[in-house]
Amino acid sequence: MNTNTEATLHQSRNIERLVEGVATSDGAGVTLTRVLTGKLQRRLDPFLMLDAFGSDDPDDYIAGFPDHPHRGFETVTYMLAGRMRHRDNAGHEGLLGDGGVQWMVAGRGVIHSELPEQEDGVMEGFQLWLNLPAQNKMAEPWYQDYASEKIPEYTTAENVTVRVIAGSSNGVAGVVTREITEPLYLDIHIPAGASFSTALPATHNAFVYVYRGAVRVGDTRVDAKRMGILGNAPEADGVTIAATEDARLILIAGKPLNEPIVQYGPFVMNTEQEIHQAIDDFRNGHFA
Ligand code: CO
Repeated sequence: MNTNTEATLHQSRNIERLVEGVATSDGAGVTLTRVLTGKLQRRLDPFLMLDAFGSDDPDDYIAGFPDHPHRGFETVTYMLAGRMRHRDNAGHEGLLGDGGVQWMVAGRGVIHSELPEQEDGVMEGFQLWLNLPAQNKMAEPWYQDYASEKIPEYTTAENVTVRVIAGSSNGVAGVVTREITEPLYLDIHIPAGASFSTALPATHNAFVYVYRGAVRVGDTRVDAKRMGILGNAPEADGVTIAATEDARLILIAGKPLNEPIVQYGPFVMNTEQEIHQAIDDFRNGHFA
């Protein structure tokens, strides 16, 4: 833990739009909020989906996500609280605990399960889907688990705590660096009355999701359980976020791919033909 000097911004981005998300369930019956839905994939390119889950009722999470495939993108699971075991068809296995991250590049295909390893208590976190460029959609699958203590963290002069999961913020590099989409993924805790700034390339698409308290970006208040899409004003060189009460949020940004997006459930490719191929490959056992 170190204290860092924050960026001095020329101009902050503003909130373009607030999004409530859609209550739904997925897997074998896990209750969640789909914050980033299909309709926002173009606007928030390279991000395809963000699910927020959080409950202390085991009925909401105990069924988990039994064996299912993915192809053509990356999944990033960030556990705020809880224990989830991951197993895939290549024999990899990992346990994700409080504050831990699993970064998976599905590439040409994985079949895996994500199952709670707890029968009570709180399970809370996020799963983000990050698109892969056409050239990497059929790459070898890859994944890595990072325990909480491996995630770089810094504190600002105003006592804002920032966990840097991916990319880099105010000179602190995250645990994951990805080329091409250059994702930034921060978990930010801002005490009441404090504010926080970080640089963002103007062309990168970006959003915040507040999961405790409330924040203000420019003139717009973002309450808990709301996503705020940050506008891409060419003259804005970052974002300043102020907390009106103790607040916790994630800030996610990335460089758009500007490629066609064709999704069929857990397959995200560039063309219909590639989706048919993915379905055939899956049915014929070629994901193994
Ligand atoms: Co999955």
